[in-house]
Amino acid sequence: MYLFHNVLYKDIINIEAITIPKNKIVCITGESGGGKTTLLKLLNKMISPDSGEILYHDSPLEALDSIDLRRQVVMLPQNPAIYNGSIRDNLLIGLKFSEKPMVNDDKLKSSLISARLDKVLDDSVDNLSGGEKQRLALARVLLLNPDVFLLDEPSASLDKETEKIIIENLVIQCRKNAKSVIMVTHSNQIADDYADIIIRIDKGRVVGQEVKNEQ
Ligand SMILES: Nc1ncnc2c1ncn2[C@@H]1O[C@H](COP(=O)(O)OP(=O)(O)OP(=O)(O)O)[C@@H](O)[C@H]1O
Ligand SMILES: [Mg+2]
Repeated sequence: MYLFHNVLYKDIINIEAITIPKNKIVCITGESGGGKTTLLKLLNKMISPDSGEILYHDSPLEALDSIDLRRQVVMLPQNPAIYNGSIRDNLLIGLKFSEKPMVNDDKLKSSLISARLDKVLDDSVDNLSGGEKQRLALARVLLLNPDVFLLDEPSASLDKETEKIIIENLVIQCRKNAKSVIMVTHSNQIADDYADIIIRIDKGRVVGQEVKNEQ
């Protein structure tokens, strides 16, 4: 699905080669400041390499329309934006930004259930905790139903138990629907339990790649 050839970005990323097959759960791990977020941004063309090439389904990213790409490849940022208004507003805004059709309340509610956010659609976002905001942003991304999920520490503000429930549910759904997940995680436990492939990044380089599940 993704192929890297000698990708350089500033002095942050220096990756000679990586191959990321489709329909896999890929975990990216590594120390803070190593370049994990930058790597995700390269994958959905929020930034472009200074040299080298990234292929997505055999096409160079530079040849692909950024908007089209971001309908297929959706990123959940490390610090997602939450907008003033209700839970419903915040769910629908993702669909609006990506020019996808609006959905009914049942769909919105089921996205909250998938993200384990026990709130009412009309609730204001004002009093949500950090972890609840993170789950709301995850629900927003789930509604977009992309082929590829780029998730930047989606469970960083969650307790261990909630983290396990949410990531496990996400992985099950993505496997069932043949989606690809590329997820930055600080949790070795999550990577060990759920990843098909673990890529370790340090100082912008790939310093380890472990394939745990060939299928
Ligand atoms: N646009 C930019 N211009 C210059 N330096 C940047 C830019 N974006 C990130 N950096 C630097 O590049 C390095 C990698 O940043 P990045 O956010 O990719 O790390 P990370 O692995 O995601 O870290 P964390 O685990 O803390 O989220 C850091 O030293 C950061 O300060
Ligand atoms: Mg980061």
